[in-house]
Amino acid sequence: MILRCIECGKEYPIDEARYRCECGNLLEVVHPLETLKKKLSRKLFDERLARRDFPYNSGVWRYKELILDIDEKFIISRPEGNTNFYTSGKVAEYVGLKDILLKHEGENPTASFKDRGMTCGISAAKMLGFKRVACASTGNTSASMASYAAMAGMESIVFIPEGKIAFGKLAQALAYGAKTLQIKGDFDDAMQLVQEVCQELGIYLLNSVNPFRIEGQKAIGFEVLQQLGWQVPHWIALPGGNLGNNTALSKGFKELYELGIIEKVPRIAVVQAHGANPLYRMWKNKTSFTSVKAQTIATAIKIGNPISWKKSIRGIEWTRGVVEEVTDQEIMDAKAIVDASGIGAEPASCASIAGVRKLVRAGIINKDEKVVAILTGNLLKDPDATVNYHLGKLKGIKSNYANKPIQIEPNLEAVKKCLK
Ligand code: F0G
Repeated sequence: MILRCIECGKEYPIDEARYRCECGNLLEVVHPLETLKKKLSRKLFDERLARRDFPYNSGVWRYKELILDIDEKFIISRPEGNTNFYTSGKVAEYVGLKDILLKHEGENPTASFKDRGMTCGISAAKMLGFKRVACASTGNTSASMASYAAMAGMESIVFIPEGKIAFGKLAQALAYGAKTLQIKGDFDDAMQLVQEVCQELGIYLLNSVNPFRIEGQKAIGFEVLQQLGWQVPHWIALPGGNLGNNTALSKGFKELYELGIIEKVPRIAVVQAHGANPLYRMWKNKTSFTSVKAQTIATAIKIGNPISWKKSIRGIEWTRGVVEEVTDQEIMDAKAIVDASGIGAEPASCASIAGVRKLVRAGIINKDEKVVAILTGNLLKDPDATVNYHLGKLKGIKSNYANKPIQIEPNLEAVKKCLK
């Protein structure tokens, strides 16, 4: 394993705490795929599925050689992954497909997909001897980092945009003991600041600019394929914010393909909120990257200057992927459908469902293609957005599928009247 610059190709040893090349571009982990070809197989991963022992009981460390092949004494695992697939006639009908599989990453230990990257990031921090870790976050990364840092006995410092992160996430960061700095600015300001702080104060940075975070998140894709008996779906749809997750999935699929474990790669559909759509603009208009001032109800993906855009666009090319955008109205309506199907997810997660619907309508996703949509976070992460939707209190958003609470007198007659 080595670290390599995605632009100039300069290499660095894995035990150097580094996120960027001297040329300023991001680094990525390169695995010795030629050597691994002899060792890794579907069969090996399938055998590990039955294991209950650390670290192979984790849906990340099961694929250890392709993630972060380090001494087990450094690994901090809760364990993460092993999340379920759901099908729902209601959701399938809504998006216009015969079938759609929803992979619920909200079933991770801190209730979002971030745990998959974080177990790697924190384990790397331990390997490198760090005692303090930090991140900027729209909420889920901070919740995850705070938990894993506490388990590793490290101090954690989170930078969050003031007043703009969902309550469930803020609650987690505080409860797990992170020093929580609410900065007067948005996520993009926080991201800028945390990089400066980590550089100056020698704190380990655990945003997805950290190459090990990306490695852990690849396991979402690995697990999807393994759950499908290594049958490759046509599409994987997921929301895009800082663009680490789609970067991770495409990198992982490319590696599996190069190892000969899969014969083709699924196409990736990245879905951004209309008000936070710099990747969509770049992809759609074939222009160079320009940041935007982000605005969306899906606070998790309210990011205008995503750190991983270069890696992301490269991955979209590798997988013949597409980028779509959806409005807040589309996100909240899709969420209402996902929630009412009994599955439930936070707003950003449902951008993937709204995006699939749009792509099916546009004829880009074929009606009988196999689609897996990633639900990135749990319904309870953002109770405000959910309750206010059902109460009809979201500014500028129609509550098309509202399920309002009904106030009644405390007697049988009143109940009967309601249930008629
Ligand atoms: N969905 C949820 C629920 C998220 O929390 C995030 C990102 C994304 C999707 C987008 O993933 O950034 O890899 O493109 N949340 C980060 C955070 C930014 O700080 O928790 P991405």
